[in-house]
Amino acid sequence: MADRPPTKPPTPGTPAAPPADPDRREGDRRTDLPAAEGRKTASVRQAIRSELEGDEPPTTPGDAPRTRGPDAPPVVQMEDVSLAFENPILEHITLAANEGETVVLVGESGTGKSTALKLILRLLVPDAGKVLIDGDDITNLSFEEALKVRQKMGMVFQGAALFDSMSVFENIAYPLREHTQMSEDEIAGRVREKLQFVDLEPDRVMDQMPAELSGGMRKRVGIARGMANNPQIMLYDEPTSGLDPLTTGTITRLIMKLQRELGVTSVVVSHDIRSAFRMASKVALLHERRISFFGTPEEMTASEDKYIQDFLGGL
Ligand SMILES: Nc1ncnc2c1ncn2[C@@H]1O[C@H](COP(=O)(O)OP(=O)(O)OP(=O)(O)O)[C@@H](O)[C@H]1O
Ligand SMILES: [Mg+2]
Repeated sequence: MADRPPTKPPTPGTPAAPPADPDRREGDRRTDLPAAEGRKTASVRQAIRSELEGDEPPTTPGDAPRTRGPDAPPVVQMEDVSLAFENPILEHITLAANEGETVVLVGESGTGKSTALKLILRLLVPDAGKVLIDGDDITNLSFEEALKVRQKMGMVFQGAALFDSMSVFENIAYPLREHTQMSEDEIAGRVREKLQFVDLEPDRVMDQMPAELSGGMRKRVGIARGMANNPQIMLYDEPTSGLDPLTTGTITRLIMKLQRELGVTSVVVSHDIRSAFRMASKVALLHERRISFFGTPEEMTASEDKYIQDFLGGL
């Protein structure tokens, strides 16, 4: 299946008028769906439906060969997970992503979406419940065992979070140097391969510093770094926040390409409901510390639940 042609990246050195902070978070959730502001829920639903109809179906796990049998457990699973800091944050969270699926986690700011990703990465340990990766409970692993499981995952952090003092090449090479025995030649080959996958020209961008890149290019480099180790699982924390609608589309298609061509299983946190619905096999809605909805985008738009209607209409 051919991916749509990518938007031509802005010329390096003259970023296409990035915002002062391209990864800004304040008010992000209103920037990606401007037409929805002030309209009724019905028109937002219509917009979302059109978006779904105009795209390749996101609910199929893709063309990549399946590596697991039909009875295999979900690749990522949270089972009745609860976590409190000073206050309870997450309570009885249950969700699952099967091989090749993309689960998009949505919810208001501060509801614990990033925290849920950290639990999957085992940067945090739940107070109760289990997190399972490939069916294995990772809750009680030692530090070394946790590192090993983390190798199955690539993370694109909120705000792309590149190392500002390292070139694009070194940013992408970093996880390879840290976690593999690859030679310099192998690393160079892998960095080029990943840059090409995210539609960046290696020779143009490899030696650039993150500050020289536009917001969209930074996100792509963040994705190239996240996928450098060829992970089976990708976790993205707001990969499209702060981007203009066109670049948001490019990044959304890139995430879908990882799913389709590489069979990657993904958990994506997103404030952008349009982008979320395009890529999601399932949507999980966090509300008042719990998953208040888990299902397909179509099921979500069809829901008569008042909070879901408000959530879709208010974005
Ligand atoms: N390490 C921590 N110690 C104490 N409280 C924390 C910690 N990490 C997160 N929190 C709190 O947990 C809650 C959820 O935070 P989290 O960052 O997961 O929300 P979020 O849904 O990702 O929000 P946003 O959409 O703004 O990124 C917030 O109230 C936050 O202050
Ligand atoms: Mg967050």
